[in-house]
Amino acid sequence: MIARSVIDEIHRINIADIISPHVNLMRKGRATVGLCPFHSEKTPSFNVREDKGFFNCFGCGEKGDAITFIMKRRTLNYADAVTYICEQYNIELKYDSKDTPQKPVKDMKALHEMFAERAKISLFKPEGIAALEYLKSRGFEENIIKRFDLGWAPPDISITPFENSFTGAVIAGSGIFSKYRKCLFANRILFPIHSATGACIGFSGRTMDPAERSKYINSPETSLFSKRHELYNLHNAKEIMKKDKSCFIVEGYFDAIRMVAAGFPQTVAIMGTAFTKEQVAQLKRYSAEEYNLILDGDEAGIKAMMKSRDIAIECDIYPNVIFLPAGEDPDTFLKNNGKEGFDKILETRQDLLIHTIKNERGKGTDNNKRFNRLNDIKSILEKIKNPYRQEYYLKETASLFEVSEQTLSDDVSSGKPKNAVIRYAKKTGNINFMVEKDFITYLFLLPEDMTEHLTADLPQECFDDETFRLIYKKILEFFAQGDNIIELRNDTEVGETIADMLINKKDTPDCYSAAIDCKTKLMINFCDKERYKIADQITSTGESGNLEAYMEYLRNINKHQKKTYTGED
Ligand code: UTP
Ligand code: MN
Repeated sequence: MIARSVIDEIHRINIADIISPHVNLMRKGRATVGLCPFHSEKTPSFNVREDKGFFNCFGCGEKGDAITFIMKRRTLNYADAVTYICEQYNIELKYDSKDTPQKPVKDMKALHEMFAERAKISLFKPEGIAALEYLKSRGFEENIIKRFDLGWAPPDISITPFENSFTGAVIAGSGIFSKYRKCLFANRILFPIHSATGACIGFSGRTMDPAERSKYINSPETSLFSKRHELYNLHNAKEIMKKDKSCFIVEGYFDAIRMVAAGFPQTVAIMGTAFTKEQVAQLKRYSAEEYNLILDGDEAGIKAMMKSRDIAIECDIYPNVIFLPAGEDPDTFLKNNGKEGFDKILETRQDLLIHTIKNERGKGTDNNKRFNRLNDIKSILEKIKNPYRQEYYLKETASLFEVSEQTLSDDVSSGKPKNAVIRYAKKTGNINFMVEKDFITYLFLLPEDMTEHLTADLPQECFDDETFRLIYKKILEFFAQGDNIIELRNDTEVGETIADMLINKKDTPDCYSAAIDCKTKLMINFCDKERYKIADQITSTGESGNLEAYMEYLRNINKHQKKTYTGED
């Protein structure tokens, strides 16, 4: 246990000093106010009472002391938040003497937090002035710089303070420092990259030197970070995405930041030109219905569109596409044309596939060209999974290319790949396969409090399929450790299967009721198996040892069927 005196010392620090690196605060009467970092707002409802040492947001209800603030803002546990503040303010960490002295659990997430924080502080110190000026010259104000936790890693940033707090293995695993102890991001603007749950898991550093060869340097693949799985700003965008059912997808960090600053908070960046299946799975998880892909109007943009189109079709999503004038990205376009200009260009958005069909038709200036382009479109139509969507695009194609729907449709269905094999191929004899698969999928789609409720009293033996049983076992382990199960996508054994399941999930309007139904079936199936086992046992040995366990199980099923979800357990 951390000694009480340490906590008292933290409480003696002015809470506004601890909060101000994260929020622009202004004095207003007895309170100090700012824009709440925990929800999105335009007028400040986030209040800090320096005299009382607490904060309180009238908008979203978050409140607490300095330690709570750091826990929430940096997704740290209590011990790590205390350690973090102690490091910032040079407070010596002391433990109650009755405990064996022990370092609080510190892992790679805490290392990323510490690095992000140091870089953030450096940006606002005198030596960071060039970096801050660079950001301001590009039109980014302090308010937005803080909102995105941007930082700057000094050229001589030292590994030593990190070595004092973390093991060599954790530091090496993070990729932040090279084996020669040099920082990967030295003298670069630092963009912390967060997981969907808001933990800092990686970085990108942008050079300010136009002559430098690598414009951005990203964290390598680590146990926390895999670029193709993540979307920049998803942790901030997800709530609004859920509410609005729509999102904007841009390429770069600055594009996302500019979009948010201009009033489009539901923006995520794919961090490069290739949109991945894993990123689509993330977006689907936050249930956007409308995907708006914003691309550069030049050749690179067209290429990016074609790649994204293939992924979208494979993942069964149907995005809109918005082309900016050649050479512009959302960052420069918004800077030059403002929100009004952008709203105008938004009106030009088109369904990506309709755009493709029209575009290809435009190239069919004579009959030879027309039928060749039609052939290209046909191969796209064949891959569309959703039959209604397929029919819709088929109709458009037939009409634009002046062929009959019937002929086109016959042609498309004759070329359609039949019986695509799925990785976790259906095992013969397991009648529960689909139930198990659906149940596991729902666990990834539902909010955490619901999923924990769903897994209560459901042992892993309920799953007949080995892969699903393994995934379920891992889910239970994640819950036990308080981790977010979406991270399981990075699991080497089951990650791919999970990504696949999420991409190919069917649309269910009420996942929770559907999941309850699955749970009931799983339990009944399990009881049946148990019953046979007991019957066997009784016939062969004359004993009924498992009977009591079985009865207990039946009672559980009963209880479960009566229970409806109330949000509290
Ligand atoms: P861009 O080259 O379009 O950069 O790459 P940008 O976002 O417009 O950056 P500024 O405005 O020149 O500062 C788009 C995105 O591709 C990834 C980054 O995520 C970048 O934001 N990228 C680009 C890299 O990861 N590495 C690179 O070397 C370049
Ligand atoms: Mn740019």
